[in-house]
Amino acid sequence: MDLDMHASASNQANIKTLESRGFVHIPSAAGELASGLEGTGRMAEPEDIILAMENFFASKAPLRGKKVLVTAGPTREPIDPVRFIGNRSSGKMGYAIAEAAAQLGADVSLVSGPVSLTAPGGLRLINVETAAEMYDATNSVFEDMDIAVFSAAVADYRPATVADQKIKKSDKGMQIEMEKTVDILQTLGAKKKKGQIIVGFALETENELENAKGKLERKNCDLIVLNSLRDQGAGFGGDKNKVTLVTRNKTQEEELKPKNEIARDILNFIMREFIK
Ligand code: CTP
Repeated sequence: MDLDMHASASNQANIKTLESRGFVHIPSAAGELASGLEGTGRMAEPEDIILAMENFFASKAPLRGKKVLVTAGPTREPIDPVRFIGNRSSGKMGYAIAEAAAQLGADVSLVSGPVSLTAPGGLRLINVETAAEMYDATNSVFEDMDIAVFSAAVADYRPATVADQKIKKSDKGMQIEMEKTVDILQTLGAKKKKGQIIVGFALETENELENAKGKLERKNCDLIVLNSLRDQGAGFGGDKNKVTLVTRNKTQEEELKPKNEIARDILNFIMREFIK
């Protein structure tokens, strides 16, 4: 922000240069000046400065007033008190989406499995461990959400029974009976209300587009963010990702990019396609 104190010609040129660099100029007011003279050069009234700042930030906050839910990271399904079945999800993609949504002014709830990331400020973080806990946390807030992004790598199966004590090794092999976990996206997708936008993720190794479109229908999503493991650099762990955005009538392939840029692309795509 720049307060114009002297409206000379060279100042006007400087103001134009600053505005061209993205600065906002709040014009000075006319009236009695500190020098005792009358003219243009008084500091703008504080109310006018606040109004200009509010307008500035409103234009940068296209998701203001929108509630956004993001699931992120892996889940851990316990075998006994010290062991679990998990996966390699780092949570980076989901955290980047939550951060980008908060920067765009949204009211963000981030439901996160165990990750070694620091949550960005300015959002509601709900830490969970298992698929069942992730379902409970998302289900309890889903109804109020405008946009829900399911980027978590939720375990599809969990041990059917969890041993109370640490399982001792024996000379024989071992089998663990597994049962299905709740499909959070599919269950909440079935409850989707008019106006809610649901985004799912898909990690595929073959027939990528066909599978992504099937997932879009089956889970009642508006958008599937497709990762193909055939694309170099895509998938878990790294700081970059390569995705294709798939809707019912559009397929948009993105380049390999840092995850925070992909996050902004996804949110811009949602705003363009679904929020008029
Ligand atoms: N998902 C979920 N709850 C689960 C499993 C998956 O919410 N129990 C969500 C993920 O967060 C992601 C999408 O569903 O958005 C990924 O689904 P995926 O596991 O790939 O789908 P499936 O149909 O289970 O895949 P596949 O048939 O390929 O195993």
